[in-house]
Amino acid sequence: MNALPQILKSGSSVPLEEIAPSFIRSLSPYVGGKPIEEVAREFGLDPERIIKLASNENPLGFPESARQAILKEMSDLIRYPDGNGFQLKSALSQRYGVPQEWITLGSGSNDILELVAQVFLQKDPGQTSSAIYSEYGFIIYELVSQARGARLIRTQARAGYGHDLDAMAAAIAPDTKVIFVANPNNPTGTYETPDKIEAFLNKVPSRVIVLLDEAYNEYLEPELRYDSTEWVRRYPNLVVTHTFSKAFGLAGLRVGFSIAQPAVTDLLNRVRQPFNVTSPAMVAATAVLNDQDYLSRSYALNRAGLAQLNTAFEKLGLEYVPSFGNFVLVKVGADSGAGAVNLELLKRGIIVRPVAGYGLPEWLRISVGTAEENNMLIRALTEVLTA
Ligand SMILES: Cc1ncc(COP(=O)(O)O)c(C=O)c1O
Repeated sequence: MNALPQILKSGSSVPLEEIAPSFIRSLSPYVGGKPIEEVAREFGLDPERIIKLASNENPLGFPESARQAILKEMSDLIRYPDGNGFQLKSALSQRYGVPQEWITLGSGSNDILELVAQVFLQKDPGQTSSAIYSEYGFIIYELVSQARGARLIRTQARAGYGHDLDAMAAAIAPDTKVIFVANPNNPTGTYETPDKIEAFLNKVPSRVIVLLDEAYNEYLEPELRYDSTEWVRRYPNLVVTHTFSKAFGLAGLRVGFSIAQPAVTDLLNRVRQPFNVTSPAMVAATAVLNDQDYLSRSYALNRAGLAQLNTAFEKLGLEYVPSFGNFVLVKVGADSGAGAVNLELLKRGIIVRPVAGYGLPEWLRISVGTAEENNMLIRALTEVLTA
């Protein structure tokens, strides 16, 4: 790598990178799913014929209710948004049965993960803080914690790639401030039962924040759902995050939220940027929150797509992790890893997500698409694996 430019100070030069703390310098940036345009350029393909099953987006298309709400909002876009998000918070407040003072809005739920890290992993001079997350847990937990200079405690996954909640509780140290739990988890698609989560919450001391990330909650079958808001009422150290990026279909607009008791919510709102969620994002979210038809269709399309992918993987003799989200982790590589299969899929205009960064070099994470997109993926994968 080339040496970074130097700044001159009182005659001596300081390499710019040394201004940043070591924990920032050692951060590896988040690698997202490849954009369609990039793959089109790289492989000389027609962007119209590329399918992206790499970022767990909603294949159903943008909700019409949200589109109408945004169009109505257009003429007001010269104004800043309502920094308190009154309309969206009142809709959420009704939906989840909590006062508005329990809700924090974020530019995606990712924003809330950062706010939690910023508030609780900030250390006073001379102190340390640590954060706990699971092996194969959503990678942003590690990133936001490291960005605060926290000590990272990664617990081993349980058999079947899920969170080992007992191990996570046992790993709590005197300086632990935050534990991140995703249910279902990305990229494994694993799910922990509510009785296990409640037993875990009972073990965590109230001085430690538990962040329960429910980004994929709407994809759970009705009999697997649970009332985490009820837990928020009972556990003042619990923050539950939700997103509009998945089942609600608004990933590009960036809107998510958390529910937590007012003491924690107040802290999050102190560090939140005043206008962190745009007005089109808020009106769209308000509209789609009550768009039961879109939500039901998202759910049904995902159930059918999961079944379609699982059946195909079984036919191909591929190991996969049964998923509770809108994506599946499937093992396609042997010793050489999944890189070659991924490359062949890209050449055929299909973008999926390699997960070597998660310590899963032989696996790919494939988002559920429309029936047609899933078929294209299955055809290409069959061709590549049987070549
Ligand atoms: C488990 C989990 N949490 C949070 C997020 C963040 O999503 P967003 O910032 O779009 O709300 C994602 C996105 O993929 C995720 O998989």
